[in-house]
Amino acid sequence: MKKGLFIVLEGPDRSGKSTQAALLKTWLEGLGREVLVTREPGGTYLSEKIRRILLDPKSRIEPMTELFLYETSRIKHTLEKIIPALKAGKVLISDRYTLSTTAYQGYGRGLPLKTVETLNSIATLGLKPHLTVVMDIPDSVFARREREDEKLRGADRIEREPGSFRRRVNRAYKLLARRPGMTRIDAGRPVEEIQAEIRARVARILKRQKGER
Ligand SMILES: Nc1ncnc2c1ncn2[C@@H]1O[C@H](COP(=O)(O)OP(=O)(O)O)[C@@H](O)[C@H]1O
Ligand SMILES: [Mg+2]
Repeated sequence: MKKGLFIVLEGPDRSGKSTQAALLKTWLEGLGREVLVTREPGGTYLSEKIRRILLDPKSRIEPMTELFLYETSRIKHTLEKIIPALKAGKVLISDRYTLSTTAYQGYGRGLPLKTVETLNSIATLGLKPHLTVVMDIPDSVFARREREDEKLRGADRIEREPGSFRRRVNRAYKLLARRPGMTRIDAGRPVEEIQAEIRARVARILKRQKGER
């Protein structure tokens, strides 16, 4: 049986995660792999319910409450979706994972990073992706994409946060992208160029896994 492959796409809103996830899925399916694309918060019945609470503009949620809700959604997602998919030899692509919580609840909300990372590790049972792609998007490109997307802005509770919150999160991603184990991708380029770089990274891991069998 094929080995499971766990790929995570990280980065701020509108950095191109969903676009890249869909293209990667198509390519991997072409290689004969079974691929699941999932997202955090969400990905299971219960986790999607928690997602709705988190993104509802009417929800009033303190930062620490917010952190626990994200982690609760994550535990369920890990147990019910990620682990079974990997055990079955599938490829699982997750749109956001633990780095998002570090960026948004740690750097964005100002919760202690140690607390966030302890809870991240508990909620994932310490499970680490084979590849975490961090979409690094230049500020100028980001500002343009936000303007173009004006109609959609403010749709959910997190997107309604002031610009200062989003700027803290974006700065955090630039920092986190340089952590060991992270694969930083210059996301200000054309879609196809970014995809080619991601595929090359994935191909390398697949080759390594083949050698291990
Ligand atoms: N490399 C790119 N260059 C230009 N526009 C892009 C690129 N990647 C994505 N987009 C566009 O930017 C917007 C946000 O992309 P999306 O994949 O939904 O981002 P995310 O999932 O990170 O929020 C969409 O309108 C998408 O078509
Ligand atoms: Mg998306």
